[in-house]
Amino acid sequence: MAKKVFITGANKGIGKQIARQMGKNGWTVLVGARNEERGLAAARELLGENIEAEYLNIDLLDSKTIAAAVQTVESRHADLSMLVNNAAIPGDMRKPGYEFTVDELRNVMETNFFGPFELTRRLLPTLEKNNGRVVNVTIPIGVLSFFNPFAYKTTKAALNVMAQSFAQSFTEKNKPIEIFSVMPGATTTDLNGNITGEHVKTAEESGILIVGFILDGKNHNGEVINTNGAVADYNRGLL
Ligand SMILES: NC(=O)c1ccc[n+]([C@@H]2O[C@H](COP(=O)([O-])OP(=O)(O)OC[C@H]3O[C@@H](n4cnc5c(N)ncnc54)[C@H](OP(=O)(O)O)[C@@H]3O)[C@@H](O)[C@H]2O)c1
Repeated sequence: MAKKVFITGANKGIGKQIARQMGKNGWTVLVGARNEERGLAAARELLGENIEAEYLNIDLLDSKTIAAAVQTVESRHADLSMLVNNAAIPGDMRKPGYEFTVDELRNVMETNFFGPFELTRRLLPTLEKNNGRVVNVTIPIGVLSFFNPFAYKTTKAALNVMAQSFAQSFTEKNKPIEIFSVMPGATTTDLNGNITGEHVKTAEESGILIVGFILDGKNHNGEVINTNGAVADYNRGLL
C-alpha cells in the first residue's frame, strides 16, 4: 500500500511541487486547499501524471474545516503517515511592524500558526499510530536588513518553536513521531509577487529540495533546516 501525505496549500506554488515530488516517489497525496475548484484542479493535474491524488478541503482560518479534514483522514485515510504544513500567507512584507493593526497580525498568525497548530494537534493520534512525521515549510527568522517582514517572521518563529518544542516532548515521551521544518529559500511564487533573480528558485526546485530532506532517510526531529542543509541553532543566536 502506498504511503499517504496530506499537504496544505497544495493547489499551487511550492505546495503543489511538494505534492508532485512526493507522488513521483510513490506516495498518495491528499491535496489540501481552501478553494474547491483550485483543489480539484490540482488533484486532477496530478492524477493526469499517474499520481494518486485526492482533494481535501482545508481553510486554516476556519476551525470547522480543520475538524472536518481530520475526520475525513480518520475515517478514510487512517493510514496517513505524513502532514506537510505548507500553506501560509506573508501579510504586508513592506510596512514596519509597529504599523500593523492587531487584526492584521492576528490574521497572519491564524493562517501561519494557529491553523497549522490545530491541524497538527488533531492529527497527532493518527500520525503517532503510523510512526508518522510532520514537516513545516518555513523561513529564517533572524533579523536581516534585506528581509524584515514583521508578521511573516513573527508567525513563522512560532511555527519553528512548535517544531523544536514538540520534538523535545516527543523524545521525552517516547512518541514514535517526528517533526521538523525546512526553509526552501527565496522562490518564485504568488506569495512574493513572483520575484525572480539569480538566487531565487523555481517552485519545482524548492519542491525537490524539501522532498529531498523528507526522503533522505535521516531522523530530523526538531530540526529547522536551511536551504543549504544547515540546522538553525537558536540557542547560539545563529540564523
Ligand atoms: N516563496 C518563497 O520565497 C518562500 C520562501 C520560504 C518559504 N516559503 C513558504 O512556502 C510555503 C508555500 O508558499 P508559496 O511560496 O508556495 O506561496 P503561494 O504560491 O502563495 O501558495 C500558498 C498556498 O497557501 C494557501 N493558503 C493561504 N491561506 C490559506 C488558508 N487560510 N487556508 C488554507 N490554505 C491557505 C494558498 O491557497 P490559495 O490558492 O487558496 O490562496 C496556496 O495554496 C509557505 O509556507 C511559505 O511561507 C516560501
